[in-house]
Amino acid sequence: VLSRLPIELSARLARVAALVPVQARLVDVGTDHALLPIHLVQTGRVRYAIASDIRSGPTAAARQNVARYGIGNRIEVRQGPGLSTIRPGEVDTIVIAGMGGQLAAEILSASPTVVSKARTVIVQPMSGAACVRQYLLEHEWRITHESVVSDDGYHYMVVQAIPGLGTDPAYAAFRDTAAAMACALEFGPYLLTTPTQSWLAYVDDRVRRWQRARSGMAQSEREDAVVRRRELDERLRWLAEWMQRLNIMARDVQDGGVSHDEQY
Ligand SMILES: C[S@@+](CC[C@H](N)C(=O)[O-])C[C@H]1O[C@@H](n2cnc3c(N)ncnc32)[C@H](O)[C@@H]1O
Repeated sequence: VLSRLPIELSARLARVAALVPVQARLVDVGTDHALLPIHLVQTGRVRYAIASDIRSGPTAAARQNVARYGIGNRIEVRQGPGLSTIRPGEVDTIVIAGMGGQLAAEILSASPTVVSKARTVIVQPMSGAACVRQYLLEHEWRITHESVVSDDGYHYMVVQAIPGLGTDPAYAAFRDTAAAMACALEFGPYLLTTPTQSWLAYVDDRVRRWQRARSGMAQSEREDAVVRRRELDERLRWLAEWMQRLNIMARDVQDGGVSHDEQY
């Protein structure tokens, strides 16, 4: 039975979908059940979509879904690692959502000829957001949107970027120390200056992880542990100072009678 109602997306995937340019030629890497590309084709937002995944289970599920919704003429399911399934110029928009940031950056690095033909990249890393921003910065992609979306008690980073405008100027304010740069890469150079409620919750989660990692290595005298401990201490200290400044700014803004709403 053909189903005509658009697939409903979670808040996380809905945020990603909202960042896909209208009329895009899209690849969704690590598509799993192809929910995102099916939704984007159903709503007419994209011209066509390629739903790509490394595993046979997900691609089989994706094919079934595509058939169920009767949109096989505008969506194609392909199996293979990363962007290896795509010919250069075939897509102008790349989505990589729901996997680690390090893997996402590796996937982009592995297919420079496909990536160089893209006009928009959207990444939603489950961890290691710093790896994604590091890749974007090194390859001169500029962040055009970054936000955190809260969904079911979790807080997800979403980053959209475009190429060809030179080095992202947003990092200029964070180049003084390694700790400042590490925090800008992890938490976002724009979000650090325009925080939202969801972003604050995301930062809280990460700080707790860093603190746990820090106390886990509290005793070790091994050289790498000593270096890592100092690194974490410096980041935590930098972040605490930054947050204090934000609090002071927020108080000033509130005193002025301006409210801070979520960007989304
Ligand atoms: C957790 S699911 C995310 C599904 C969907 N993108 C989302 O955000 O809800 C991760 C998917 O990535 C796929 N995957 C993992 N490594 C991959 C790679 N190197 N290339 C392509 N797909 C990969 C897995 O098979 C899995 O289906």
